Amino acid sequence: MYDKLQPATIVIFGASGDLTRRKLVPALHTLGCEGLLPTASRVLGVARSPLPDEAFRTQLFTGVQDYSRAEPGICAQWNTFENRIAYLEGDYGDPGTYQRLAERLARFDADAGTEGNRLFYLATPPTLYPIIVEQLGQAGLNRSPGWTHIVIEKPFGHDLESAQRLNEEVHAVFDESQVYRIDHYLGKETVQNILAFRFANAIFEPLWNRNYVDHVQITVAEEVGVGHRAGYYDRAGVLRDMFQNHLLQLLTLTAMEPPALFEAEALRDEKVKVLRAVRKCTQSVRGQYEGYRAEDGVGSGSQTPTYALLRLFVDNWRWQGVPFYLRSGKNLAAKTTEIAIQFKRVPHLLFPSSPDSQITPNVLSLCLQPDEGMHLRFEAKEPGAGMRTRPVDMEFHYAEDFGATALPEAYERLLLDAMQGDASLFARADEIELAWRVVDPVLADWAKPDAPALAFYESGSWGPVEAEQVLAEEGHVWHVGCAQHGKPKGRIEP
Ligand code: BG6
Repeated sequence: MYDKLQPATIVIFGASGDLTRRKLVPALHTLGCEGLLPTASRVLGVARSPLPDEAFRTQLFTGVQDYSRAEPGICAQWNTFENRIAYLEGDYGDPGTYQRLAERLARFDADAGTEGNRLFYLATPPTLYPIIVEQLGQAGLNRSPGWTHIVIEKPFGHDLESAQRLNEEVHAVFDESQVYRIDHYLGKETVQNILAFRFANAIFEPLWNRNYVDHVQITVAEEVGVGHRAGYYDRAGVLRDMFQNHLLQLLTLTAMEPPALFEAEALRDEKVKVLRAVRKCTQSVRGQYEGYRAEDGVGSGSQTPTYALLRLFVDNWRWQGVPFYLRSGKNLAAKTTEIAIQFKRVPHLLFPSSPDSQITPNVLSLCLQPDEGMHLRFEAKEPGAGMRTRPVDMEFHYAEDFGATALPEAYERLLLDAMQGDASLFARADEIELAWRVVDPVLADWAKPDAPALAFYESGSWGPVEAEQVLAEEGHVWHVGCAQHGKPKGRIEP
């Protein structure tokens, strides 16, 4: 349960963008409906185009209708909620904008009772982050009579050097304790559940190491292509878009040591230790879906990968020699995010083995989305004479145990935490830089003239065959247990 939030003004820079309409305001609306956002709070959108408050609210209403968990059919509070939303037109580089912003904030404090608490949210294109941060500092808006926190959206930098520079620019104005770097994967319940699963149960953690784990697979597969984001995506590619942040976050949560406390610094210290222990990647595949080059905004000779596989090793006592295979791509066969822990085979096979009764290793699949839950694959004796076994699944589905609408949106949780001052689910400066240290050398290797060529894959497939081969050569196959078991089924049919 949450301590009661203090009222605050949430200032969104980039108010006319997609993120504001599809994620931020729908999440704030749900928080309001659930009574988590104090009624004295205010939302102030800042953007360049002139827009009356009324038109801004109408724009946001469509987003709330389409994307809020508490859409107006469920929660009839839009009329009161919209009165707390206002718009401020201004150029991000113009000091006048920040003077007007300061006046508005002071007025909200006096009239609405926002108590000098401010959450600045940077939802603009990243090139504007340094400008906004600097201007906030010059206007003295980095401090306030209450608390001041700043949320920074991804991408945080384009490589290590730019991330370090951005960290310096941010630290010139804000203390690290005021900074909340978003990775929306950390806002997902199932991602947080990795920690609950590992550290609130006694039975798995003793097996969670090189003595019992053969290898780990982390898959973040998407069915969608680049859509209308080609302009950004073609410069970023899958490593910057998905690996530097989401996949490495999943890796750290899977591989980290138990922190002594569930507290931001202790948690992030452990994650940072994992990133520090990641060995330079020497096995990777990069792919591009067929037809990518014909997408609007993509160059005809684009070399941008829309798929990647990295094999990583974490050089510490717990994980020495255990491969972590990370893959992610667009336009794949299914949307599924899965962490599969494959355990070692039994040391001695008691039962006569025949080609059609191979004992398969145990696999624990953490299904992070869309059918959130867990599967544990193990061998069971087939009924009847003899001693033939076959793999069966033990399953847990969030929807069955907690109800179909139990899972909040990632942004609801993250906005709450940022207002509450809890940075546990946000990336720290050193964590971001270390993640770039993992990704940058791969990008550099791929840019070399002798780098393996980009592998093309069919849309709707599971990616390039080269990625299958990497695993096959090491005696493994990719698990898609969560996607296969997409429908809740509860029990294994005889
Ligand atoms: C974003 C990426 O961070 O995550 C997108 O920029 C990607 O390219 C998205 O589609 C995936 O998020 P989710 O929550 O749908 O898995």
